[in-house]
Amino acid sequence: MRSMKSETGRKLGFGIISASYMAMDHVRGVKANKHAEVKAICDIDLAKAERVAAEFFIQDYYADYTELLKRDDIDVIIVSTPDQLHAEMTIAALEAGKHVLCEKPMALTIEECKQMIDASERTGKKLMVGQICRYAPGFALAKKLIDDGEIGELFYVESEYAHDYSEAPGVGNWRIDPVRLRHPVLGGGCHAVDLLRWIAGNPYEVTAYANRKVLQSWPVDDCTIAIMRFPQDVIGKVMVSVGCKRAYTMRSVFYGNQGTIIVDNTSPTLTIYKDRISGDTGLFNDVNDQTISISHPVNIRSHNTIDEIKEFVDILLNDDQVRTDGVEGASTAAVCLAIVESASTNQSVRIQYDF
Ligand SMILES: NC(=O)c1ccc[n+]([C@@H]2O[C@H](COP(=O)([O-])OP(=O)(O)OC[C@H]3O[C@@H](n4cnc5c(N)ncnc54)[C@H](O)[C@@H]3O)[C@@H](O)[C@H]2O)c1
Repeated sequence: MRSMKSETGRKLGFGIISASYMAMDHVRGVKANKHAEVKAICDIDLAKAERVAAEFFIQDYYADYTELLKRDDIDVIIVSTPDQLHAEMTIAALEAGKHVLCEKPMALTIEECKQMIDASERTGKKLMVGQICRYAPGFALAKKLIDDGEIGELFYVESEYAHDYSEAPGVGNWRIDPVRLRHPVLGGGCHAVDLLRWIAGNPYEVTAYANRKVLQSWPVDDCTIAIMRFPQDVIGKVMVSVGCKRAYTMRSVFYGNQGTIIVDNTSPTLTIYKDRISGDTGLFNDVNDQTISISHPVNIRSHNTIDEIKEFVDILLNDDQVRTDGVEGASTAAVCLAIVESASTNQSVRIQYDF
C-alpha cells in the first residue's frame, strides 16, 4: 500500500462513534495531531453528539454510526462504545474500507476477536486496539528501563486495577448487562493484564480466585486475583477490584534480580530500587546499607490518547505494522477470559493463543 499522505493529499479524516467521556479524550487526541482531523461524531443520543460536536467544533454529527461509514472523507473510525458493540462496529467499519482504532477490551469473546482479525486481514485495513496503558508515561518508562536491563532479569511482576465502579455502570447500564456479561477482569482488568503481557510476555497458565463482597447487585464478582506463570520462569499476579474504596490506581511492581520498579498511572513518580554500587552519584535516596532508590518524575496521563493516536496516524501514513493489533488485543482478552474461567471453575487454566 502506498503511504496515505500521497494517496489522499489531505489530513486523515476521523469519525468517532460515541460522544462519551472516553470519546472526548479521543477527540482531543485527534485534534492534537497535525495530520488528522475529526470529520464527524456519532451517538445514539443525538443531543449528546450535538453537544460534543459544538464543544469541539466538529461540523457533523449523527445518531446512526453507519452514516460515518458512508463518507469518503473519513479514513479512520474510532469505536468508543460499550464493549458489547466493539465487534459489530469494528467489522462494519473495516468492511466499509476504514481503518479502526477500537477501544479496549477488544471484544467480549475470542470468537468475536477472531472475526475482527479476519475482517482486518480480508479488507487490508488496519486494526489497532486501544491498550492505552502502554502510553501512560510511567509505564512506558518502566518498560524502557526493563528492556535496557536496569533491573536485570525479571522474576516476579504484578499489577492491580483498583477502580471504584459502584456509581458507574455505564450509559444504559452496559457494565452490568446480565445478558451480554462484561466481566470487570476483561473490562478494566485488561489494562493490568496487558501491561504484564507487554512487560513479561504471554502467560501460559493461570489460577484465579474471586468474590463479591461490595457490589452485591452486580451480576459478576467484583474482586479477582490471578496468579500466572510467564515465559522465562517469571511468575506474576493481577488484582482487579471494581468495588474497592480507594482512589483509582494501577500500582504495578516489577522485580528483577538487580532491582525493583514501583510505578502507577496515577502517581507522579516511578521509583527504582537497586543494589548500592561504588561511586554513587548522590542522586539516590538511601534505603538501607545495600539498597538505594531513585524517583523519576513522570506525567500523570492515564488516558494518553495524544500519543496513542499519534502512533496510529504515523503507522497509517507510513504503512507500518500496528503494535497493538488484533492479535495483541485478542491475546490480552484471552488471558482475561482464562482468569474468569479459572475463578469460576476453581481450576488452573492453560491459556490458548490460537487466533
Ligand atoms: N482506555 C480507557 O482507559 C477507557 C476508560 C473508560 C472507558 N473505556 C472504554 O471506552 C468505551 C466507552 O466507555 P465509556 O465509559 O465512555 O462509556 P459510557 O457509558 O460513558 O458512554 C457510552 C456512549 O456510547 C453511546 N452509544 C451506545 N450505543 C451506541 C450506538 N449503537 N451507536 C452510537 N453510540 C452509542 C451511548 O449513548 C453513550 O454516550 C468502552 O469500550 C470502555 O470500555 C476505556
